[in-house]
Amino acid sequence: MKGVLLHGGFGTRLRPLTHTGPKQMIRVAGKPVSQWALEDLRDSGVREIAIILGELAPERVVEFYGDGRWLAMKLTYIYQGYPYGLAHAVYLARDFVGDDPFVVYLGDNILVEGISGYVKRFLDGDADAMILLTEVPEPQRFGVAEFDEEGRLKRLVEKPKVPPSNYALVGVYFFRPPHIFKVIEGLKPSWRGELEITDAIQGLIDRGLKVDYAIVEGWWKDTGTPEDILEANRLLLDYKYREAVVKSEVEDDVSIEGRVYIDDGAVIKAGSVVRGPTYIGKNTVVGPNTYIGPYTSVGNNCRIVNVEIENSVVMDNVVLKDVGERIIDSLIGSGAKITHGEDKPRGVRFIVGEQTVVKL
Ligand code: DAU
Repeated sequence: MKGVLLHGGFGTRLRPLTHTGPKQMIRVAGKPVSQWALEDLRDSGVREIAIILGELAPERVVEFYGDGRWLAMKLTYIYQGYPYGLAHAVYLARDFVGDDPFVVYLGDNILVEGISGYVKRFLDGDADAMILLTEVPEPQRFGVAEFDEEGRLKRLVEKPKVPPSNYALVGVYFFRPPHIFKVIEGLKPSWRGELEITDAIQGLIDRGLKVDYAIVEGWWKDTGTPEDILEANRLLLDYKYREAVVKSEVEDDVSIEGRVYIDDGAVIKAGSVVRGPTYIGKNTVVGPNTYIGPYTSVGNNCRIVNVEIENSVVMDNVVLKDVGERIIDSLIGSGAKITHGEDKPRGVRFIVGEQTVVKL
């Protein structure tokens, strides 16, 4: 089975974090969101993958993942550019896929319990397509399934105002060529101007082809908004880091509590408390006198000095120093600096990017 990872799109709802790169590269619990997806594919036996690239800094994705050998995978890149829709992106992969069954994984989706069981089920069966569904509180944000009296899939609607059920489409789809590509060729753009994968699968149902579905019981997250990123971070820290791992230097008078993962080259300086579940990235300096509280991920090459922070995601190359207040529930983008100014006249000074949120 081959894989197609969708790495394009705009990432509008995650601005300003997505001004400089694709949303799938936002690091959550120590890895870019799309790396969690790639590793899930690999761990399910899908090692040959095409990554569909968008307009936003596609070279950063290629530079980061390369040929995929470091992940024990074989990666190919296909440039989509403007996001004409999920079905458009899938269609671009038709030569790569050839006659093989394939799985499409949206690069901003995280399934903590993995997809191995679904890969096996699809390969063992004879369905033309298989979708994953899960019960959600706000189905109108997603593609939604409608069932008939026998519980068979009847209809799929993208972001309906009045959802026919609470079952949302998870961003992992299985297909056997060639029908899906034929249906996409005949698709018309939706009201939001996109070729919808939901409509393509509806096309398979309308043609009487076999579309199977499975219900995802484990936890799934579409990381479209800042709140989603914080929640994904909490859940990944809980699921993926089961024990404390300290790979680096910890000075005396430091307290490391619970499931704390401290990566290579990091230094935890005197007077600091790190309370898990927490991830501290490579070459990051924490302290002196710093508190890193539960459900915090700090990226690589950061300096967190004399600061209290919890339930937050800090990207790479960030400096947080002498911040008087405890930082909570925050997302801090790469290269950001938050410090306590010593200059006169005293005041608060900001240089903040577009659409930044600051709450004092
Ligand atoms: O997350 C699950 C939902 O994903 C499903 O319930 C919906 O049925 C499905 O349409 C999709 O909805 P979203 O509105 O969340 O899709 P979004 O535009 O965020 O794109 C999903 C991923 O695919 C994201 O990683 C960006 C990428 N993408 C998107 C488009 C439109 C591309 O690579 N190319 C594209 O053209």
